[in-house]
Amino acid sequence: MTRTTYYTATTLDGFLADEHDSLEWLFRQHIEEDGPMAYGPFIATIGALVMGATTYEWIRAHHLEKGEAWAYSVPTWVMTHRELAPVVGADLRFARGDVRPVHEAMAAAADGRDLWVVGGGDLAGQFVEAGLLDEIWVQVAPVTLGAGRPLLPRPVDLRLEEVARNGDFACMRYGVVGTAP
Ligand SMILES: NC(=O)c1ccc[n+]([C@@H]2O[C@H](COP(=O)([O-])OP(=O)(O)OC[C@H]3O[C@@H](n4cnc5c(N)ncnc54)[C@H](OP(=O)(O)O)[C@@H]3O)[C@@H](O)[C@H]2O)c1
Repeated sequence: MTRTTYYTATTLDGFLADEHDSLEWLFRQHIEEDGPMAYGPFIATIGALVMGATTYEWIRAHHLEKGEAWAYSVPTWVMTHRELAPVVGADLRFARGDVRPVHEAMAAAADGRDLWVVGGGDLAGQFVEAGLLDEIWVQVAPVTLGAGRPLLPRPVDLRLEEVARNGDFACMRYGVVGTAP
């Protein structure tokens, strides 16, 4: 069965990025690439992914404009209300509104592999509210920011499934129970 997972790093106080979309806090942490819940084994299971417009534009600004290639070989949906420039060589689908038809199209494209909700947090919340998110995997960095882009700004009940340490990070895997009252 296709699983849909929100997999992300976060600060201890629940931010994906600072108010200026900087990930400097993340890149100074240490992680073992072959350690628990690491990115490599995770991405190997993924057949399609979805991200919000801010995340897409961050990738464009920080990787592609430096001449680096698009990082993902699988189809990628970008949620936006705007006309965003595509990336040469990337399999991109732009969409807006209800995430349910997006999820259906992702599952068809993934052909039995799993789906990754890259972020941001509100987009992950939209998948929870549609009943379409199965798990949340977080790598919690030992840093607080006080403000920034939130990990998940909607009320969600979770079930703790797994806890591990990888380098500087506390890694947690949660099952999604549903929207919280
Ligand atoms: N720590 C990590 O590992 C990690 C992981 C992921 C992301 N990040 C970073 O965290 C930040 C996340 O930014 P963010 O909180 O602004 O979230 P985001 O999801 O990247 O972007 C939010 C934007 O996506 C568009 N959007 C979302 N849902 C939509 C829908 N259903 N229909 C149409 N458009 C929709 C809207 O943009 P428009 O209306 O303007 O088009 C919305 O303002 C970024 O800086 C990213 O680089 C960090």
